[in-house]
Amino acid sequence: MPFIRPASRQPSNSNAATMGRAAAMAVALLVAVVASAATLPGTASASPAEGIQPLSKIAVHKATVEMQPSAYVQATPSLLGEQGEDTEWVTVKYGWTYPSDDDWIGVFSPSEFNSSATCPNPWPAEEPYLCTAPIKYQYANYSANYIYWGKGSIRLQLINQRSDFSFALFTGGLHNPKLIAVSEPISFKNPKAPVFPRLALGRSHDEMTVTWTSGYDISEAYPFVEWGASVGGGAARQTARAPAGTLTFSRGSMCGEPARTVGWRDPGFIHTAFLRDLWPNKEYHYRIGHELPDGSVVWGKPYSFRAPPSPGQQSLQRVIVFGDMGKAERDGSNEYAAYQPGSLNTTDRLIEELDGYDAVFHIGDMPYANGYISQWDQFTAQVASITARRPYMVASGNHERDWPDTAAFWDVEDSGGECGVPAETYYYYPAENRASFWYKVDYGMFRFCVADSEHDWRAGTPQYEFIEHCLSTVDRKHQPWLIFAAHRVLGYSSNAWYAGEGSFEEPEGRENLQKLWQKYRVDIAYFGHVHNYERTCPMYQSQCMTSEKSHYSGTMNGTIFVVAGGGGCHLSDYTTAIPKWSIYRDHDFGFTKLTAFNHSTLLFEYKKSSDGKVYDSFTIHRDYRDVLRCVHDSCFPTTLAT
Ligand SMILES: [Fe+2]
Repeated sequence: MPFIRPASRQPSNSNAATMGRAAAMAVALLVAVVASAATLPGTASASPAEGIQPLSKIAVHKATVEMQPSAYVQATPSLLGEQGEDTEWVTVKYGWTYPSDDDWIGVFSPSEFNSSATCPNPWPAEEPYLCTAPIKYQYANYSANYIYWGKGSIRLQLINQRSDFSFALFTGGLHNPKLIAVSEPISFKNPKAPVFPRLALGRSHDEMTVTWTSGYDISEAYPFVEWGASVGGGAARQTARAPAGTLTFSRGSMCGEPARTVGWRDPGFIHTAFLRDLWPNKEYHYRIGHELPDGSVVWGKPYSFRAPPSPGQQSLQRVIVFGDMGKAERDGSNEYAAYQPGSLNTTDRLIEELDGYDAVFHIGDMPYANGYISQWDQFTAQVASITARRPYMVASGNHERDWPDTAAFWDVEDSGGECGVPAETYYYYPAENRASFWYKVDYGMFRFCVADSEHDWRAGTPQYEFIEHCLSTVDRKHQPWLIFAAHRVLGYSSNAWYAGEGSFEEPEGRENLQKLWQKYRVDIAYFGHVHNYERTCPMYQSQCMTSEKSHYSGTMNGTIFVVAGGGGCHLSDYTTAIPKWSIYRDHDFGFTKLTAFNHSTLLFEYKKSSDGKVYDSFTIHRDYRDVLRCVHDSCFPTTLAT
């Protein structure tokens, strides 16, 4: 498989992030072609141009060792996070006598990456040197004139990931890596420090959950959240401590390669605390911490959040929905922006607009770690500025869950052997059973029914039962805005791949569910997976129920279907013929925003990540009687009795 090297197109390492972005845009088309060719036969993917996990391009098992006297790698500073920082930039200097275009720097964590004790060797006759994939890598010629001078310098961003780091210089490219020099290890001051808190709505409306990662097992320190209601806009005067539960997972809980082999990295400990009996819409301060046996506390950073409105409560309520964002490295490493070119754009836009929304739904395909577990930490770090302040609700995507013979609905290898374990552990969501990734959330005037397209949803399954229960048990006079969400397109999309199949949906996607959406008058059904934006008319059985395009009033008569999969991954193409039901399509990165002003008025907006401007929108104005009114296939027959 050929690979793309943005590095060779980099004239200088100055302003690396900007340069990486520019180079990525230049090669994006080529990458898409390569990625398209890489799609595994038999993968029922709607987005063939999903790209290749950059770490998977490294032939870890073929690595050899030939340390060269002239080769060197040095990284500074040697101590990171002296002031408690969880993210730091390091300078890596390297060189040798015979520099080559395909030399590269791998970042390893833990720094000892040749421990044969933990290294399953597929070739027993040879001593494996590389037991693990790096957590990131960069081409040596990312530094200007590396080939000419035989020395280079790059800056890399590291996050606190519970272990030290080393930097290794390889020659021979990614396909035949030959290790020629390794740096001294560097480390964060406290590698175990609690980091990257993520808020999520709980099972009850008066609850907020806080999940974070640390290196402290429960036997070493007690994890907790100290929290209290803010006073006069400032920090809480009275605080309480909520104890946190602790989870982790092991290599053995992975279902296949690379998650179980070279992609494995110890995830540390993931803690979740439940903050209960919150006052609706009140602001609270909180701080994660671990109490050590001597009574001292290792603290995380302080943050605040606003408690959710109670079900039915009328107030301004704004929710962001998108899917398929992925991750990227700001230092240009891991072939930055060639894998998920819009990821940082969307992340940065959401951070910029933080004051403009109250909660986020990321409906599947989160980091695209694809079995490289280190990437989960890096994703939690990328979105931490959002998740520490706004509830961040997730759904299961194919890149989180799918693996053959694991009871997933799709018998494909999209999760790289993760089979849902990292997603179900790193993030909290209020499911009855976290292995069954479906749940409901009441948020003021909204009800969200979040389904799991990676498990069977058809009539007769537990998930179908859940969906019907979720849709049918909401009191629409108080919670009029009923939203369905799932990762794969179970509704409608004019994506080219679906169009080629002739279905405009996943196989059997809406066959069973459209009866429920119609019967319970779902307002909007959201999907991701297809990496673009599309919005339909209110529809039922492939028919538009009105000719109105943007100002809906009175009874809706159908459901509006939205594909919001342009969070950051490679964009998907549409079919050339535009179906009648397709009102607006945008082949770009973006996200959507729902604003409920009151029980009668809802505003929907689609924004591009590049400029934050609204490119598509519609409003719904209606009263409760409009929800009650019978529509096609929605009501039981009435009797003639009076
Ligand atoms: Fe997907």
